[in-house]
Amino acid sequence: MEKMALKDSTYRLKKARVLLTKKLTENEKFFDLALKDGETLDHEPGQFIMISMPGVGEVPISICSSPTKRDSFELCVRAVGKVTTSLHNLKAGDEIGIRGPYGKGFPIRILEGNDLLIIAGGLGIAPLRSLITYVLDNRRDFGKVHILFGCKEPKDMLFNDELDTWNARTDLHYACTVDRAAPDWAGNVGVITTLIPGVDIEPSRTFAAVVGPPIMYNFVIKELLAKGIPERQVLLSFERNMKCGNGKCGRCQIQNLYVCQDGPVFNYEQIKNLSEAF
Ligand SMILES: Cc1cc2nc3c(=O)[nH]c(=O)nc-3n(C[C@H](O)[C@H](O)[C@H](O)COP(=O)(O)OP(=O)(O)OC[C@H]3O[C@@H](n4cnc5c(N)ncnc54)[C@H](O)[C@@H]3O)c2cc1C
Ligand code: FES
Repeated sequence: MEKMALKDSTYRLKKARVLLTKKLTENEKFFDLALKDGETLDHEPGQFIMISMPGVGEVPISICSSPTKRDSFELCVRAVGKVTTSLHNLKAGDEIGIRGPYGKGFPIRILEGNDLLIIAGGLGIAPLRSLITYVLDNRRDFGKVHILFGCKEPKDMLFNDELDTWNARTDLHYACTVDRAAPDWAGNVGVITTLIPGVDIEPSRTFAAVVGPPIMYNFVIKELLAKGIPERQVLLSFERNMKCGNGKCGRCQIQNLYVCQDGPVFNYEQIKNLSEAF
């Protein structure tokens, strides 16, 4: 009976108030939200929530802030369809319903004491920003940290102020690249895989955390394995259409795995034989 009540509580719709919204690019908007009555979200980096827009629908969105930020939590949303577009219309003071946090995020306890190679493609920086901020807030618990970020064009770069801060830090290595340069771009040009060979790592103690568009995964995985990183130390986050977000409806299923519950973060060893995963 108690177990049942616990299970059902994971479906609970919680009210969240929008504290701040900020346009990041033409298509992406940043949101800072607080749960009502001072409740904390208590998420892990890499987890997601289901956001409900009344009369429109519900969508999964990654939490892009670190759990070390207790008073509120942050999201970065790309407007692609009806729910995400209606989310973009929210203003400070508006209230929405959320469920979660759901899923398995990055295994922080396993990552502690090891080196990290964090690779973000485009909007993949959203869940990885949660991990990066957590690592920087607990910097002494981790070894070397490398962050590689790639976007199609300079105008697509997200969290520009934070990128500058990461670039200026001496306790991490940051590099970014764009597929296509703009006239005022003086940085690297080329797909993200071009940055990987130049990163100096000790493969046995390095965990790679990779999030980006599906097309990126095969190429990046090939480079990481070529560098000698063991398969179980290559962590990837997957996106699938979702309904319940909580292992009940099967919408997100890849063979025997539910992306919403067994993932969204998987290690490569777990999913390498699931052709549908890629
Ligand atoms: C675990 C997880 C975390 C996510 N985190 C973020 C995030 O941090 N920020 C963000 O902007 N988006 C994120 N997404 C994607 C987001 O959920 C979809 O963009 C959203 O569901 C689209 O809903 P819509 O009603 O706006 O668009 P719709 O009108 O439903 O569809 C618009 C287009 O988007 C496609 N689409 C719908 N759902 C998804 C999906 N889940 N993944 C990929 N394509 C989809 C449709 O096939 C269609 O082509 C995440 C998805 C998952 C599964
Ligand atoms: S979304 Fe329902 S089982 Fe994953």
